[in-house]
Amino acid sequence: MERTHDPRVPRHVAIIMDGNGRWAKQRGLPRTAGHREGVKSVRAVVEESVRRGVATLTLFAFSSENWRRPRTEVNILMELFMAALRSEVRRLNENGVCLRIIGERGAFPDKLQHRIAEAETLTVANTTLNLQVAANYGGRWDIVQAARRLALEVQSGRLDPGQIDEQLLADQLSFPDLPEPDLFIRTGGEQRLSNFVLWQSAYSELYFSDVLWPNFDAAAYGQALDDYARRQRRFGRTGDQVEQTASALVDTCAG
Ligand code: IPE
Ligand code: IPE
Ligand code: MG
Repeated sequence: MERTHDPRVPRHVAIIMDGNGRWAKQRGLPRTAGHREGVKSVRAVVEESVRRGVATLTLFAFSSENWRRPRTEVNILMELFMAALRSEVRRLNENGVCLRIIGERGAFPDKLQHRIAEAETLTVANTTLNLQVAANYGGRWDIVQAARRLALEVQSGRLDPGQIDEQLLADQLSFPDLPEPDLFIRTGGEQRLSNFVLWQSAYSELYFSDVLWPNFDAAAYGQALDDYARRQRRFGRTGDQVEQTASALVDTCAG
């Protein structure tokens, strides 16, 4: 039997890890020093997710638009990604983390693709935390690749266009087996979605923090989770309806 889930804890948190460059600039360091420092925040947020009972965490590491950055910065981001896979995967595995990379991975160097596949295979059976790292990911890309798969089904005669509904399209997106993000966090002070999980965040609670990603520690993350716990999610219903459903559930449990 599934353990009862505390509705105040998000099942899935998605984070845009933003502000590395500004963190470095403030210190007179190259932007890439901020990316390096940001790895510490990843560790802190992963550990706090486990501690607080968040089952799935999705981190935006590299967007489909980040290729527009200077070549040197892109190269260093790739190297950092490789290095993190090398240094972190064993510990993640020991801690029961199931690691998945979402995004268009075909654009990465072969060696990186190989290492990604190895890490995914190693951790596939782990159940403490689902950790998804979005790399060369874009929300529009995700919807386009889902549409393409459906088009192929139609072309082969296995699917009638009239059968296509929200569920069928959602089933072709990057993580159909996991719940949609309940909480969508962006650090670094900007208030935009930057083409992160678009379809899947249709009903996510948004949280914007001014803290730059390298400074985003367990306490800052905890504040976001506490803020989420105080919100009422209505999904189109009225606040009264939601309260009535909640109290009916409490009655059932008490009886
Ligand atoms: C986020 O930090 C990391 C990546 C996009 C890879 P930025 O590098 O965007 O930092 P700022 O926004 O310039 O401060
Ligand atoms: C979004 O941050 C992508 C990641 C955090 C990986 P950006 O810093 O690239 O976003 P924009 O371009 O400022 O919107
Ligand atoms: Mg940025």
